[in-house]
Amino acid sequence: MKVGILGSGDVARSLGTGFTTLGHETKLGTRHAEQPKLVDWAKSAQGKGSIGSFSDAAGFGEMLVVATHGVATPDAVRMAGVRRFDGKVVIDTTNPLLFKEGAPPSLSIGHTTSAGEQLQKLLPKARVVKAFNTIGHMHFFHPSFPGGPPDMFICGNDAAAKQTVVGVLHDFGWSSVVDTGGIEGSRELESLCVLWVKSALVLGNWGIGFKLLRK
Ligand SMILES: NC(=O)c1ccc[n+]([C@@H]2O[C@H](COP(=O)([O-])OP(=O)(O)OC[C@H]3O[C@@H](n4cnc5c(N)ncnc54)[C@H](OP(=O)(O)O)[C@@H]3O)[C@@H](O)[C@H]2O)c1
Repeated sequence: MKVGILGSGDVARSLGTGFTTLGHETKLGTRHAEQPKLVDWAKSAQGKGSIGSFSDAAGFGEMLVVATHGVATPDAVRMAGVRRFDGKVVIDTTNPLLFKEGAPPSLSIGHTTSAGEQLQKLLPKARVVKAFNTIGHMHFFHPSFPGGPPDMFICGNDAAAKQTVVGVLHDFGWSSVVDTGGIEGSRELESLCVLWVKSALVLGNWGIGFKLLRK
């Protein structure tokens, strides 16, 4: 499968490494393709990874991932070209975080909407699935925790797209995926990211993840 990832940050490169390790051709999209970290990433990708513009990545991928700075995502998607997303499964990893000096992050939007809902609205013909937004990028591929992997929480409007993403998650090592319903569930999943960051700051430990206990 060809995967296009909008983004050049830790999330894009960690997911890109996961996809290329699994044998998928993967193109990262950015405004600055010459960044050394991207050149190094492509070199390490065993001939499966490449770099281009946002629109190159969106045109390349049969499946797309949005891994851009939360509040800049609409701009990045418009730069990529909205129609390049039509009909495709789009994994939305983003959180609309606001950072203020000396304070833990908060959300720039929430309660009545979310980044996931705004992305689906911007891309009405794409099949957006929220995933990977409640866990640090260092745990995306083959998550290793005492007692097994945490749960991955997802949401989205298209059942078949969610099944496709569950398949990707299983391949990445996420044996337990919790489908929380429609894309409006992004309101809670994006809040869960804030809880993850605040907990990590208090504990001084980024090696944490969420799991539902069942009986
Ligand atoms: N870091 C984590 O562990 C983690 C975990 C889960 C979810 N997330 C979420 O995943 C997303 C990506 O996080 P990240 O830490 O990898 O990277 P990030 O620093 O939040 O975002 C970097 C990306 O955003 C793009 N960008 C920034 N400002 C832009 C603008 N004005 N217009 C267009 N594009 C712009 C950059 O483009 P260029 O390439 O052109 O510079 C780059 O590709 C975020 O929404 C974050 O909340 C992060």
